[in-house]
Amino acid sequence: MNYKVPCILLLISVSLYYLLSPAPPLSDEQLTTHLKDKVVLICGASSGIGEELAYQLAGHGAKLVLVARNQDKLDVVKEGVVKLGATDVQTISFDFSDVKGSSGVINQTIAWFGKLDYLVSNHAAMGNSAFLGFPYRQEPDFIEKIFRVNLFSHIELAVHALPHLEASKGHMLFTSSMAGEAPLYRMSIYCSTKHGMNGFFYSLQQELMARESPVSLTIGSVGYIATKDLSQIVAGEGMTTPAWATGDVKECARGMIESYITRPPTMTYPKLYVYVHRAMWYILPVSSFHKTIIQIFKPPGTVGTGYQEALEFVNKGREIAKKLNFQQGYGPDDGK
Ligand SMILES: *[C@@H]1O[C@H](CO)[C@@H](O)[C@H](O)[C@H]1NC(C)=O
Repeated sequence: MNYKVPCILLLISVSLYYLLSPAPPLSDEQLTTHLKDKVVLICGASSGIGEELAYQLAGHGAKLVLVARNQDKLDVVKEGVVKLGATDVQTISFDFSDVKGSSGVINQTIAWFGKLDYLVSNHAAMGNSAFLGFPYRQEPDFIEKIFRVNLFSHIELAVHALPHLEASKGHMLFTSSMAGEAPLYRMSIYCSTKHGMNGFFYSLQQELMARESPVSLTIGSVGYIATKDLSQIVAGEGMTTPAWATGDVKECARGMIESYITRPPTMTYPKLYVYVHRAMWYILPVSSFHKTIIQIFKPPGTVGTGYQEALEFVNKGREIAKKLNFQQGYGPDDGK
C-alpha cells in the first residue's frame, strides 16, 4: 500500500491549520499589566530558556525567585535582571535530584514574598547521548537520578505550589518537550522522563478542571531551541539544523510568558517542527518513522546508519559542553 500520498496531504493540512490559526499575540503593555508585581518562581533559571524567561519577566516588572544548581551562574543572571529593572530578585542554589527538598524553594518564596503567582517548572537534565554507547547511562542509579530531576521533583513542586496558587488564582507551566510525545533518537532517558511528565501533568490538568480549581497548568511542548550553549555545541559537532526546525530562545520564552496569561493546555514551539514530528509518529508505520529519524540525524557523510560515527559526534559535543561548563546532565562528562 502506498501510504506516502495520504501522509503528505495530511501533514500539509495539519501544518497549514496550525500555521494559519495562531492565537493573536499579546502586546507588551498587556503583558506588563498582567505581570507587574507578580511573584514568579523559575526553576532552572541559570541558562537557556529559564535565563531568558528571567530577563523578559524582569522587563515586565515581575518579582523573581531564580533557582538552579550553580550559584555563580545565578549571580550573573541576577545581575542581568537587575540591569533590566527588576527590584525584587532572589536566588536559590538547589539541586532538584533532592526530590523531598524541592518544596523548600516554594516555602522560601512564600517566606520572601508572601505569595506565589506563577510556578515555572523548567529545570531538566538533558544529556544528548546514545543509551547503548555510554555504559554509565545504563546504571539504575543514574537513570533514577535523571527521573528525580526531570519528573519527580516537578510533581513535588506541583503538590506544594498548589495551595499557594489556589490562593493567588495562579498558573503553573511545566517545560516538557516533543520528546514527551514521540521517541527521540539518542535521547532515550530524557525522552522517557518527558513522557512521564506529559502523562502525569495532562492527567493533573483533568483533575484541576474537574474540581473547578482556579489554578491552570500549561505543558510546554518544546522542540530544539537554539540557546547560547546548545547552539555552540551543535555547531561544534558540525551539525546544521534547518531554520524551520530551530526555535529561537527569545520567541520561545515570549510564548511561555503569554501562556501564563492565556493559559492554554499546551504551548507548542517551534510549531511547524513539533507538529511535523508529532504527525510523523502517528502517521508513519513505526519502522519507517525510526528509519526516517536515523537518516535525518546521522552524521553528515556517513554510510549506512552511522551509529559509530554518531557516538564520536556525541563525544565532540561533550567536549564542548565541558569547556562551556554547561551542566547539561549528571554524567561524569556532563560539563561539571
Ligand atoms: C515546605 O512546607 C511544607 C508545608 O509546611 C512542608 O510540609 C514541607 O516539608 C516544607 N519543605 C521543606 C523542604 O522543608
